[in-house]
Amino acid sequence: MTLADIPATPGPTTAPVGAPPMDAPDDLTVWPHSTTRLAHGDLAVGGVPLTEIADRFGTPAYLLDEAEVRERCRTYQHAFPETDVLYAAKAFLCRAMAHWVEEEGLGLDVCSAGELELAVTTGFPASRIVLHGNAKSPEDLRSALRLGVGRIVIDSASEIARLAAAVPPGSRQKVLVRVVPGIAAGGHSKIQTGTEDQKFGLSITDGSAQHAIARILDQPGLELVGLHCHLGSQIATDKPFLSAVRRLVGLMARIKDHHGITLPELDLGGGHGIAYNPGEDALDITTLARKVRAELAESCAAAGLAVPRLVVEPGRAIAGPAGVALYRVLSVKRTSDRTFVAVDGGMSDNPRPALYGVRYLPRLIGRRSTAAPAPVTVVGRHCEAGDVLASDIHLPSDTRPGDLLAVPVAGAYHLSMASGYNLVGRPPVVAVADGHARLLVRRESLEDFRSRDVGL
Ligand SMILES: Cc1ncc(COP(=O)(O)O)c(C=O)c1O
Repeated sequence: MTLADIPATPGPTTAPVGAPPMDAPDDLTVWPHSTTRLAHGDLAVGGVPLTEIADRFGTPAYLLDEAEVRERCRTYQHAFPETDVLYAAKAFLCRAMAHWVEEEGLGLDVCSAGELELAVTTGFPASRIVLHGNAKSPEDLRSALRLGVGRIVIDSASEIARLAAAVPPGSRQKVLVRVVPGIAAGGHSKIQTGTEDQKFGLSITDGSAQHAIARILDQPGLELVGLHCHLGSQIATDKPFLSAVRRLVGLMARIKDHHGITLPELDLGGGHGIAYNPGEDALDITTLARKVRAELAESCAAAGLAVPRLVVEPGRAIAGPAGVALYRVLSVKRTSDRTFVAVDGGMSDNPRPALYGVRYLPRLIGRRSTAAPAPVTVVGRHCEAGDVLASDIHLPSDTRPGDLLAVPVAGAYHLSMASGYNLVGRPPVVAVADGHARLLVRRESLEDFRSRDVGL
């Protein structure tokens, strides 16, 4: 399967007011490729029945289909030859994930000493790691230099002197500069990072990027190897990436004119959109790669520049569709306006609906219901009215406490953004492959909370 196989027709990720409930037909297009239907309304992913996972590991639980992760890595490697494909660890990271990505030949994008140390202690080569961050801590920079990361992406003027001072005498750290190309793209205003009025990067328009570049070139401990930009997340068309190529190549040409150097790398970040529900847009990676590479070659030829090595940083498009969340229904409440189906997880394991108004399509698992579909709102167990996992979807009208619900496309920005709210404990992560399930990350326990709480 390639990412391009995912059907892509336009569809909102945020429910318009008054939108009709989303239907839950027996549509598995956004589920992992390995998903099969079993008797009694169960599904298997990676050859493992979801009911078995719920029985063995409890709920809520997250499963990750190893073959889907690997397949998605290979799709990128195939679509982007002569490119460094870095998996963006912020989407989801654990030791096994780092190991799979490394085995598939990808590099890694990290944005903290924590992500960096976890990857390196798993055996990930530091030279294939790039460190990001709009506000890197002294610890982030120390770890990066001590472990020998391949690249550090400079995101502010003040970071230049800090980093240069920390580089051991006689050595040089390769750096990129994150620039703001002034391009609006992304599924929600909170995840648009290519525009002027947000916290990331250095503006080309106001000259901050050019100023930073001149200062970096003055630092003997820093070696400027390229430009970086990340436009945002959930970008569903290739146009913004092509505009970014043109703007960054334009800046590279000006750098050549002013400083006499040709930068050898161009990092376009990630942000490749995926479908969360049947019928939604997903970016076609193969087409994106072809167009970006053609645009890069053309723009460089027009500017008289050697073509730099391309870097891309997908996170969501690798981890998202490989994950499934499993919940147990705890209560069903009928009010005069709606039916609330409350599950044993919620905004502490998936903050995305509350943050960005994202819509999911949970599905009843493990029993075949003959009841007619009814409109419901699936909510979490947390003490917030905004703790809504899926609004206005259809579930069988006899959905009841004890039922299992499964949510596809749960692999990215769920657990990596999970919180300790209400001390519910973060769910375990279970890998499925070839009919076997194995625990990757255990459930957070009351003992974990007690052991951190040292004040009494
Ligand atoms: C610098 C950078 N690179 C890559 C990514 C990955 O984005 P996505 O998961 O949407 O592909 C992000 C996401 O925030 C990012 O900030």
